[in-house]
Amino acid sequence: MKNEITWSQETIDQFQIQFLAWYHRYKRNLPWRVNQDPYRIWISEIMLQQTRVDTVIDYYYRFMEKFPTIEQLAAAPEEELLKMWEGLGYYSRARNIQSAAKQIMERHQGQFPNTVEEISQLKGIGPYTTGAIASIAFGLPEPAIDGNIMRVVSRLFCIPEDIAKPSSRKVFDHYTRAILSPEEPGEMNQAFMDLGSAICTPKNPECEACPLQAFCQAYQEGNMTDFPVKTKKAKPKDVYYFAAAIENEQGEFWFEQREDQGLLAKMWHFPLEEVDQATFDQAYKQFQKEEIEQLSLIAEEEEQDPVLFDSLPVIWQTRHLGEVKHLFSHLRWHVLLFYGRTREAQAFENGQWIDKKAYEAYAFPKIQHKMWDEIAKNQKH
Ligand code: ADE
Ligand code: SF4
Repeated sequence: MKNEITWSQETIDQFQIQFLAWYHRYKRNLPWRVNQDPYRIWISEIMLQQTRVDTVIDYYYRFMEKFPTIEQLAAAPEEELLKMWEGLGYYSRARNIQSAAKQIMERHQGQFPNTVEEISQLKGIGPYTTGAIASIAFGLPEPAIDGNIMRVVSRLFCIPEDIAKPSSRKVFDHYTRAILSPEEPGEMNQAFMDLGSAICTPKNPECEACPLQAFCQAYQEGNMTDFPVKTKKAKPKDVYYFAAAIENEQGEFWFEQREDQGLLAKMWHFPLEEVDQATFDQAYKQFQKEEIEQLSLIAEEEEQDPVLFDSLPVIWQTRHLGEVKHLFSHLRWHVLLFYGRTREAQAFENGQWIDKKAYEAYAFPKIQHKMWDEIAKNQKH
């Protein structure tokens, strides 16, 4: 193998002793670090993918209170689960953990499996999560390779491989395995996480406070920020929507539920209609020309907003509210929000009226919360 690690066994031993001593002294107190229950560790690792520790903590407590066991999680209605996940994003994570909980009930009699092979076969569990659970919950000598570890390890050894390429994974796996403590692999994986989040940060690593300084090639060469090597992600694609916040005379709003598959599957939001950029821009300009408080009757509106409202009956008053944006990993949504009131009791296809008091029972994505904020902002005028 061309990336042979050059450290002597003595250097490796010293590295492990010093890094673990640092961890035991400075490790963060986090709710999933109170014991080695694989269920608790699994849920934390799933939540922590793509989401910051500070954000996860509250969700984690609530989730554990609501679903204290794998059995309860497996049996929960999917709606309840999505509701617990509301605001965390990447909702397929929530659906996958329930599928995995069912797998554990069926194949493993409700006991979380304790081998790398079996753990990796659970739904939604890739190599990173397998390594994290295997090492933290079961003490198996597996690396948990995420962006943090790749950053630290790429600096320790000045590794030139592009971390955005899947083929680089085996290089990082090789280096990390070679230095991972066989006695405390879970602690060392978490030491990498803490170091990566507090000290060996992407832009300005605090090398002066780093317990690994003496081992770090990039520090010695003074080129820390050349690592990790990473090609730029493709820019997210812009997509444009009109959204209609439609209120009836009872003060309920009309909501649609998304399809079972795909982005934001099964979540609820105001009706959306995808439009092309030219249509969006034209409506946006129109909106800027108007007085914000302007109300108009349907007869006039029909000419102004044919695209949005031609499928909706008996709207008797509409207005533009503003643009709401949301960034998904690969898409940037631009949503132009309209407000309308209708006299129809049962208005449209595909959806339902929902009263504010019932919102608790539905899962709404971030974009829906942003649309509510936009409505609230307009009401203050
Ligand atoms: N990020 C991912 N897993 C983590 C953990 N166990 N502790 C802190 N941050 C993490
Ligand atoms: Fe990161 Fe600096 Fe520590 Fe090297 S010395 S591991 S670059 S913080």
